[in-house]
Amino acid sequence: MTRFTIIVAIDAQNGIGIRNALPWRLPEDMAFFKKTTTGHAIVMGRKTFESIGRALPNRRNIVVTRNAGWQHEGVETAASLDAAAALIGEQEAFIIGGGQIYADAIGHAERLLITEIDKSFGCDAFFPAIDTQEWREVSRETHHSAANEFDFAFVTYQRK
Ligand SMILES: NC(=O)c1ccc[n+]([C@@H]2O[C@H](COP(=O)([O-])OP(=O)(O)OC[C@H]3O[C@@H](n4cnc5c(N)ncnc54)[C@H](OP(=O)(O)O)[C@@H]3O)[C@@H](O)[C@H]2O)c1
Repeated sequence: MTRFTIIVAIDAQNGIGIRNALPWRLPEDMAFFKKTTTGHAIVMGRKTFESIGRALPNRRNIVVTRNAGWQHEGVETAASLDAAAALIGEQEAFIIGGGQIYADAIGHAERLLITEIDKSFGCDAFFPAIDTQEWREVSRETHHSAANEFDFAFVTYQRK
């Protein structure tokens, strides 16, 4: 079975995006995302793919869509999360968003890598609530973004 890890950056209200874009620019988080996902399969919703606009290099890009005709260079498609898992097989893969895919995937993931941003951005897409009955926080690293004047933390949760 595929071992799914969710990777996401959330604001103080669990917001993840506005008008199909990221509301912030946080280079430290982009570097963490790149370092963590490079060399692995990444699974994303079709809207998140459109927001990025291209396949991310040095990763196996899998886009989940209900549109059987949708295709893009450098990308594999799957009709569901289960279909994505069937493509990936027995290894770790990263769920990289967005809101619809996170809502689907949080019940199946083993690990959450959450970048918590200590500010609210008035988002229109959200990460689901993290149920502490199901998830244990196992590490937290807090930083200050000089460029943004907010604090953020890299937080890891493991399924209980
Ligand atoms: N902060 C972060 O870390 C982060 C990370 C990623 C994305 N985001 C943000 O999240 C927002 C996008 O999220 P979103 O919820 O609007 O869209 P999304 O989850 O990226 O994509 C939704 C699309 O995925 C497909 N889909 C969803 N569930 C499916 C299922 N069960 N089976 C088959 N296909 C399925 C559908 O594609 P079709 O319509 O083609 O069928 C659906 O329209 C953007 O603002 C983006 O910037 C933030």
